[in-house]
Amino acid sequence: MDLDTCVWLIVCATGVMGQFQVEPLDSTVLKGTDARFTATVQGKWEVMTWNVRGFLVLTFPRSGNVSSASEQFSASICSAEDTSCVAFTIRNTSRREAGPVICTVQGDYGSKSATLHVQESGAVQIQDGDLKVAEDEEVEFTCVTSSWFPNPVVSWKLNGGPVDGNLYNNTHVPHGDSFNSSSVLKFKAIKNSTVECLAMLPTLTKPLSSTVFLVVVPKPPDWTLLIALVCSFGGVALLFLLIYGIFFCYKRKKEKEPNYQDEMTRRVRTQSQLSGLRPPGQKQGRVNAGYVTDGRTNVTSSDLSASGYSHTTPSNFFEMPDAVYNIHTENDYNNVGEGFRKHRHATTV
Ligand SMILES: *[C@@H]1O[C@H](CO)[C@@H](O)[C@H](O)[C@H]1NC(C)=O
Ligand SMILES: *[C@@H]1O[C@H](CO)[C@@H](O)[C@H](O)[C@H]1NC(C)=O
Ligand SMILES: *[C@@H]1O[C@H](CO)[C@@H](O)[C@H](O)[C@H]1NC(C)=O
Ligand SMILES: *[C@@H]1O[C@H](CO)[C@@H](O)[C@H](O)[C@H]1NC(C)=O
Ligand SMILES: *[C@@H]1O[C@H](CO)[C@@H](O)[C@H](O)[C@H]1NC(C)=O
Repeated sequence: MDLDTCVWLIVCATGVMGQFQVEPLDSTVLKGTDARFTATVQGKWEVMTWNVRGFLVLTFPRSGNVSSASEQFSASICSAEDTSCVAFTIRNTSRREAGPVICTVQGDYGSKSATLHVQESGAVQIQDGDLKVAEDEEVEFTCVTSSWFPNPVVSWKLNGGPVDGNLYNNTHVPHGDSFNSSSVLKFKAIKNSTVECLAMLPTLTKPLSSTVFLVVVPKPPDWTLLIALVCSFGGVALLFLLIYGIFFCYKRKKEKEPNYQDEMTRRVRTQSQLSGLRPPGQKQGRVNAGYVTDGRTNVTSSDLSASGYSHTTPSNFFEMPDAVYNIHTENDYNNVGEGFRKHRHATTV
């Protein structure tokens, strides 16, 4: 048993010196609401007084009429049974009443001090109101709170859901004995939304808010993109057609091109028809069974000997320098075209 407890017990037992408590020692209320403190006094007491911010506002005698500085301050016995408890009430609190609240019980009781905090909620508004923007546009909302004390916690809601804190910035400036603040919310407009700004204080049962509507106008179709798309598709189609066309033409050409066998029989026939014109002793040409294509594309003039035929070594192919034949088959050669010239016709003359 320590000394304090011992002293308290002695005091209580003798009733010479009283003890009392004030509750709460710290009270925070919202402006306009009531603040209530209770003083519980042990033992016999006669007069209790209450000071607010240094002014005597109320005198409460144990028996008799309560005198109060104004209607705003009142006191009463907590309950008929418990006369040791007195409730002191400040109605319609304002920032003027905020500060120390001191209860004094006359006699040997002394004073007890508590503190009153008064918070003040002001206005909250999203500037510029409803917004109408094109899809995917960056939107910015500014929420202004004015005359709050202390500075409120400002947050945002988008379609009823909380907004990530990274999307907005809060700044506040003192304005007299209260605060103004602004919060800037930025995001990309995607769909029609309700945008809500909320300002909260611990003493508020629910935040004060301001709501606006964001109307998102769907993007008109992007013509440049569409044109680009059509062009590229057109280009691909055209390219395909071109390739197909070339391939088709080549195929057709190939089909027209007579094969070697056909050509030889035609030649032989032509030569036999022309044999009458030949000088005597000249032999008829015949098909060279050893015909091969050797990849040579041209017969140069040096291959042709002055004697009328050429002998290209090491192969045994002979070119037929038949002037008459050449005259007569010139057209054939021309008709057959490049492809034909690739074949070398070895004919003995
Ligand atoms: C208390 O107030 C009532 C009227 O409000 C008055 O009649 C009475 O005399 C007062 N008592 C004292 C002790 O002042
Ligand atoms: C509360 O106090 C304010 C001044 O601080 C006053 O304007 C208002 O009328 C009061 N309200 C009530 C209900 O007494
Ligand atoms: C605070 O807000 C009030 C009301 O909107 C305005 O009159 C005042 O100029 C603002 N003060 C500051 C410092 O922004
Ligand atoms: C918040 O403020 C910082 C610095 O002023 C800036 O870089 C950032 O973009 C702001 N964010 C928003 C959402 O306004
Ligand atoms: C938003 O609502 C408006 C009508 O209020 C409508 O015309 C528009 O198409 C809507 N936008 C979107 C993206 O749904």
